[in-house]
Amino acid sequence: MKITKICCIGAGYVGGPTMAVIAQKCPQIQVTVVDLNAERIAAWNDENVNNIPIYEPGLDAIVGEARGRNLFFSTDVDKAIAESQIIFISVNTPTKTYGKGKGMAADLKYIELCARQIARVAKDNKIVVEKSTLPVRTAEAIKSILDNTGNGVQFQILSNPEFLAEGTAVQDLLNPDRILIGGDATEEGRKAIQALVDVYANWVPEDKILTTNVWSSELSKLTANAFLAQRISSINAMSELCEKTGADVNEVAKAIGMDSRIGSKFLKASVGFGGSCFQKDILNLVYIAKSYGLNEVADYWEQVIIMNDHQKKRFSNNIVQTLYNTVSDKKIAFLGWAFKKDTNDTRESAAIYVADDLINEHAKIAVYDPKVSNKKILDDLNYLETRTAANNASSISSFTDPYEACQNAHAIAVLTEWDEFITYDWQKIYDSMQKPAFVFDGRNLLNGPNLEAIGFVYQAVGS
Ligand code: UDX
Ligand code: UDX
Ligand code: ADP
Repeated sequence: MKITKICCIGAGYVGGPTMAVIAQKCPQIQVTVVDLNAERIAAWNDENVNNIPIYEPGLDAIVGEARGRNLFFSTDVDKAIAESQIIFISVNTPTKTYGKGKGMAADLKYIELCARQIARVAKDNKIVVEKSTLPVRTAEAIKSILDNTGNGVQFQILSNPEFLAEGTAVQDLLNPDRILIGGDATEEGRKAIQALVDVYANWVPEDKILTTNVWSSELSKLTANAFLAQRISSINAMSELCEKTGADVNEVAKAIGMDSRIGSKFLKASVGFGGSCFQKDILNLVYIAKSYGLNEVADYWEQVIIMNDHQKKRFSNNIVQTLYNTVSDKKIAFLGWAFKKDTNDTRESAAIYVADDLINEHAKIAVYDPKVSNKKILDDLNYLETRTAANNASSISSFTDPYEACQNAHAIAVLTEWDEFITYDWQKIYDSMQKPAFVFDGRNLLNGPNLEAIGFVYQAVGS
């Protein structure tokens, strides 16, 4: 089958960048990204590419090149579905906040709505691709809805999980470690798989394109994220032991990372992992394991989350303890709010939980993050429902100038590893702070000996 038109439902962190890169690399294919959120689509269409709703290094240039040529953003979901041969589903699948599986299972409401909409609109055969991270066997559910409510046309369901990391999305899409495509072993299934392989083969070497059955593909995505998160919880567990024993977690990480069986990546101790995927996917894995009665498997993976929550709590407890057991009415400056550098995404960021703990202790939080707005910060805190929105607003403020955020603070907490923090005038910051001036480096980012030479009391994670 020759593919000329594809669309993607969901113009978020996954759908937007992925489709932009497909459009750039396949000028012969018309790519339309649709979303119900009109504000978001308007931002993607903003004449000034600096205003697109997602900040990713290099993305503005790619959107600038392809948009209007063969890349389109629209709210007309039906039209895009009707026209396309391949439909990617890239809508959000948050952890359920209600009912059965609350706090664990993925909420598939948005996926099901998409499936029903595709079934209603499609008048010819379609390939439907799951791009969102989904529990194993979701493809089966989608297929059942499509086949039972459709107009008698044929649907092939593929699983094509996304492995891009935020902040490096464009590079990850341009040079992926692998592309994974799962589909049926039937004749039609194989044809659908090949159609999608041909799209990626426009820029990805064929030996990096793996094809599997649908369930292996779905489970591989959950497994990849679980393994990555497990490495962080493992090194964070060692960080606590290092602090007690006088070992240095950076030295330990380096020493073990040189074992080629272990590898050196993803061994950075921190205040805890965040992001939209790790926690959600592990909770999902735990839920699936439990639903099959595999309690040992479930407990094993759940421990990764327990360790991560502990690491965040430990960080805020240590701030309170070190500041003479009280932070009441003390200004604590947060450098960073995003869940990692080079992104404006804050979902599940450790900063949110650390702030929540410190506000419980009546601290006044002053945030500087180069990419996160004051509104987002307040939304994130309000979402926890720990206290009223008015209380949150009076306990936290944000600044566009880092020096102002730090002025008169009793302590600085580094929550995100933005490069720019390294090159600040730390003498100037020290001079403007209350004494003793504390720095709690949740990212082991700053040069401790230099800060101590200035006069700071400096504490990193795991040393
Ligand atoms: C992750 C996966 O990397 C990606 O493949 C998948 O498609 C989506 O989930 P992402 O959440 O964007 O990507 O970011 P990632 O770089 O994996 O970082 C996740 C969290 O772990 C961040 O909060 C980061 O700061 C933290 N982290 C990462 C550490 O604390 N230490 C490390 O060594 C690495
Ligand atoms: C191990 C370490 O590898 C070595 O660095 C350390 O110095 C001593 O302990 P060893 O016990 O000789 O070495 O064997 P190793 O190859 O690590 O295997 C240990 C066990 O794990 C074996 O039973 C092996 O069959 C099993 N294993 C290993 C697996 O089940 N799956 C694997 O992927 C690898
Ligand atoms: P991700 O990180 O998985 O890309 P996001 O939340 O950033 O998640 O993006 C998902 C997008 O999907 C949101 O912009 C949301 O408005 C959109 N969306 C959800 N359901 C539908 C639907 N039925 N039709 C169109 N768009 C949808």
